[in-house]
Amino acid sequence: MRPGVLAVSLGVALSILIGPGTGLAQQADSAAAPPGAPPGGPPGAPPAPPPARKIPGINAEDPFPKACVSCHINMPEQKLDTRFSTLLKGWAEKVEPGLLEKAQGAAPAGVTLQGKHPAATSALKDIPAGCVKCHGETSKKAPPFTRMIHRIHLTGGDSNHFMTLFQGECTHCHKLDPNTGAWSVPSAPEN
Ligand code: HEC
Ligand code: HEC
Ligand code: HEC
Repeated sequence: MRPGVLAVSLGVALSILIGPGTGLAQQADSAAAPPGAPPGGPPGAPPAPPPARKIPGINAEDPFPKACVSCHINMPEQKLDTRFSTLLKGWAEKVEPGLLEKAQGAAPAGVTLQGKHPAATSALKDIPAGCVKCHGETSKKAPPFTRMIHRIHLTGGDSNHFMTLFQGECTHCHKLDPNTGAWSVPSAPEN
């Protein structure tokens, strides 16, 4: 074993023995405090609350103000075109089994999806409002949009890129009006 590796594993072993903490110095500092007492404040003082979690569009910058069309863009440098016009062209030919399975879970009762999307270019002028014209709650053929979109983005755990790359963040689609408390999902044309 190389000395560096040994030092690291010793440090790990020591912190396991001594208990949770970020370093030996901190352990020494808080040695006088009773076990479990938060580090920092004087003995007996309530712990300071942690800073607020940074939530995009709430207390942090919103990188996707137009929701769907802000994120589903063409990224030529990564050879990845996620625009809806490109997705629709693909689905007119063939729908990947993983996507079909997610859409099927939201499909109207008794409907087996065919795995081929009908022509829908007019919807590109207003996404998602244009999509919802066919994907309404009472549609007899198309999966209701809200459930299908949640299944696509929020299920599958670590195998879902929205869950990993974007941490399943609700506010990438859902926008809060801080003055009224109202939520909405913006709709806009593809760029
Ligand atoms: C912040 C980025 C982001 C936003 C906002 C977003 N998406 Fe997505 N979307 C993704 C990612 C990432 C995936 C790939 C998920 C996976 O790994 O299966 C995806 C997948 C999809 C798919 C399936 C694509 C395929 O071929 O498998 C559809 C359809 C879709 N999104 C529609 C929408 C709609 C409609 C909206 C707005 C209501 C939206 N997305 C908002 C990132 C986003
Ligand atoms: C003209 C009506 C119509 C419009 C507009 C429409 N869809 Fe669909 N969509 C359907 C139908 C019908 C199905 C079921 C197709 C099947 O049986 O596979 C479907 C299925 C899907 C599926 C599941 C994959 C598939 O093809 O089966 C996705 C994802 C989807 N639509 C996304 C969208 C998005 C995103 C938009 C807006 C950009 C949109 N749709 C606009 C009618 C429409
Ligand atoms: C990829 C985009 C997207 C993401 C991410 C997303 N939603 Fe949604 N959600 C929608 C859309 C589109 C609607 C329909 C909005 C409308 O009708 O105005 C909706 C509607 C809803 C509704 C009301 C309808 C219903 O199903 O009861 C709830 C509740 C909801 N979302 C919860 C969440 C939560 C919680 C998260 C995060 C864990 C989340 N959503 C993440 C797109 C998204």
